[in-house]
Amino acid sequence: MKILFVVALLGALHPAPPAAGPRHTLMPVPAGLAWGSGRLRLDGRFTAVVHGVPGDARLERGVARFLRRLERTIGVAVGAGTTGLTITVRGKGAAVQGPDEDESYLLDVTDTGATLTAPTTVGALRGLETLLQLVEGDSAGYAVPAVHIADRPRFPWRGLLIDAGRHFQPVETIKRQLDGMAVVKLNVLHWHLSEDQGFRVESRRFPRLQQLGSDGRYYTQEQIREVVAYARDRGIRVVPEFDMPGHSTAWFVAYPEEASSPGPFTIERTFGVFRPAFDPTRESVYRFIDAFIGEMAALFPDPYWHIGGDEVDAAAWKDNPRIRAFMRAHRLADNDALQAYFNRRLSAILTRHRKQMVGWDEILHPGLPTSTVIQSWRGQESLGRGAKEGHLGILSANFYLDHMRTAEFHYLQDPVPAGSLLTAEEARRVLGGEACMWGEHLSPESIDSRIWPRLAAIAERLWSPREVRDVPDMYRRLSVMRGRLEEVGLGSEGHTPRMARQMAGGADPAALAALLSLAEPASLGERARRQALTTLTPLVFAADAARPDPPAQWELRALATAVLARDGGSAEARRVLASRFARWPGLAPALDSLGATAPLARDALPAAQALGRVAAIGTDALEMLGGGPATADWKKERLAQLDSLERPQGLLRLSVIPGVRLLVAGVPVP
Ligand code: ACM
Repeated sequence: MKILFVVALLGALHPAPPAAGPRHTLMPVPAGLAWGSGRLRLDGRFTAVVHGVPGDARLERGVARFLRRLERTIGVAVGAGTTGLTITVRGKGAAVQGPDEDESYLLDVTDTGATLTAPTTVGALRGLETLLQLVEGDSAGYAVPAVHIADRPRFPWRGLLIDAGRHFQPVETIKRQLDGMAVVKLNVLHWHLSEDQGFRVESRRFPRLQQLGSDGRYYTQEQIREVVAYARDRGIRVVPEFDMPGHSTAWFVAYPEEASSPGPFTIERTFGVFRPAFDPTRESVYRFIDAFIGEMAALFPDPYWHIGGDEVDAAAWKDNPRIRAFMRAHRLADNDALQAYFNRRLSAILTRHRKQMVGWDEILHPGLPTSTVIQSWRGQESLGRGAKEGHLGILSANFYLDHMRTAEFHYLQDPVPAGSLLTAEEARRVLGGEACMWGEHLSPESIDSRIWPRLAAIAERLWSPREVRDVPDMYRRLSVMRGRLEEVGLGSEGHTPRMARQMAGGADPAALAALLSLAEPASLGERARRQALTTLTPLVFAADAARPDPPAQWELRALATAVLARDGGSAEARRVLASRFARWPGLAPALDSLGATAPLARDALPAAQALGRVAAIGTDALEMLGGGPATADWKKERLAQLDSLERPQGLLRLSVIPGVRLLVAGVPVP
């Protein structure tokens, strides 16, 4: 009865965060939320009672993790009483989770207790994360405000791609990301496991793959099982990607006969698109792939299998006279047609192994079975084209974390934006999206800071109703999420100061840490143009120490907005900005002297010098806003200078320019 009441009540709610009542810090924002009155106090008497399906060990482990995290939040050992949370779960969920798993839940908190009801274990796990995020402190201790939440995801496929091919990422690193993903209700780890630079899984049928293709950096089968089980415990699927026919040099180190060009091959050390590709004309290639997938299918229980299919070098096939003859004989007009032939053969193999094929948007050719899922990295357009042709789709374009864009940029993307030209049926084929963490410039040390906390904003885009897109509110909640992600073991917050200390080598790291906190790494492409990196280069530069979209970016914009507010602006914000601007010019000389004993720190000098110029512009703008004599020319010139200062300075880009630009743009001119 109570649950029915909650459902009925929530049905009438708007999805947006409530305008009145306590402002929550939930991320992702639930589909429906209504505040009640009163609060449930949390103390040692709190306990969780589970009414689940007997033998649901996954739920038991999930509840145990929840209680441990709750204890760490409130500083008290719980479980001494009988009141608290009642969890009712109707089913364990599918033996192998797929995109149609029901992840919904109802959470009802009153001043006497909480109930969490879900059709599946996974739904209950989602609800437990929400409950943890509701905990807040007050003068009497910790409590959860009374609330009714009816929640479910907007999209069934909400993923993160981790590229372990270009730089290997150890199991512990992967598990940490899974913990973070669970916090923000993501449900797919797309594990990119083979590349030109490395083959990363132990094959027992073809052990030369890892023996010759991995530099000894690969996951054993035991470790794969461990990660898949760890993910499943958190309601996360693991979709493996073995990229083919291109991006495949590492396979051919061991098996050169499967390539379309003569070997021998060596593991690629640099980055880009390389020539070697599978030879689609050889039957031995399909026998090899069939046997390989047959072995791997047992390791990766997910119903989906990613074949890659991106960026095949045209010359790989065109230069081979035997392949050209095959194409003529089979009336395959061009490389695209040959790749389509290859994909149809792969699709048949995968069907035999009961796997549904996923591939990058290059594989979208006429004749591709519509059961193939298209993952779009090149733009929304190919996602739409696939959906119109009957394919399921996943959006990754503009969710590339290696592009070093802001959380705001990613947040405002949408797999099915308002005004989409897709019909309702076509839109339903869009399963969701995946953030992509490509591995060119990625180390186990830097990965947390590249993924988090921005991924939380993408997770919200994929879970929450489309209308939830208030950027200031997103950043407000994201700043709370930073602590929550740290709490599950992610190192994004401490990354920059930690690396600044390492780079300073015992000297005072303060100036370097301060500069790095105001800057972000140049994007993948910008960095690649300026610095010749190989897989053997240690990633210990200023660009590795800085992190994308540092908190200073949004903070500066918020301060500038406060200064410009209509009723005269905030005097406090003006004072804070003035003191920042006064401090920035001192960083370049301090870094210059640090560079005398810490050469790596010198990389940050161009950005520090540029920061001094930004500070001067900011100081002038504050003065003009205070009534100084501004002219239209002054403003135009300063805006142009800021545009130029916003370009990468060395391998760093200053993150504070947008805030200063707001100030300059806000200066009134006659
Ligand atoms: C890709 O970025 N080549 C999928």
